[in-house]
Amino acid sequence: MKTAILISGRGSNMEALLTAAADPDYPAGIALVLSNRPGAPGLDKAAARGIPTLVVDHKQYDSREAFEAAVTDALADAGAELVCLAGFMRLLTDGFVERWRDRLINIHPSLLPAFRGLHTHEQALAAGVRLHGCTVHFTRPAMDEGPIIAQAAVPVHPDDDADTLADRVLAAEHRIYPLAVRLIAEGRARVENERVLVDDAAIPQTPLINPAG
Ligand code: GAR
Repeated sequence: MKTAILISGRGSNMEALLTAAADPDYPAGIALVLSNRPGAPGLDKAAARGIPTLVVDHKQYDSREAFEAAVTDALADAGAELVCLAGFMRLLTDGFVERWRDRLINIHPSLLPAFRGLHTHEQALAAGVRLHGCTVHFTRPAMDEGPIIAQAAVPVHPDDDADTLADRVLAAEHRIYPLAVRLIAEGRARVENERVLVDDAAIPQTPLINPAG
């Protein structure tokens, strides 16, 4: 499945997807990495792996719609069938999201629907939750909403700060994003009544309990 990745920065989730897609058995190939920010470090990382990259700088456009029209053209040129938001920090219009309905996915650093928006690790620490995590979901017009494809939970440690917690969550992000793309590309994940059904899903049998004793 021809896949495009939209980034704004570091691109570590993009790297996880590129690594997965480098396996000939992986059912998705990365046709384009597009950044709205010219200096995004992820661009060089993708180019170093021989992946086509493109900058569509939102600052060069008068409106969100004009910016998104340029992004849409680039995605069409690349033949993208699936679009992955990976640390893409621009809000998208309803028109763009609806155009890509069920073909546009996002990774968010919390167990949605908890902790939408920014600073999710600070939010989790402030709430005192014992388990935190990350979510890959189909994108809908409302921010950080949409049918959930995969989630990973990690324990919050008593001495965590936002950085240590972010590192633990990020390692989990790098596992579930390639998994979610694989499920979609294999045709095993589909949206029905705004929930995702996964064919032949392997379900873990043990709870993650924190504190463990
Ligand atoms: C990731 O933690 C991702 O979940 C988050 O930004 C980071 C990007 O890192 N995304 C959001 O907060 C979107 N609401 P990366 O550029 O190294 O993948």
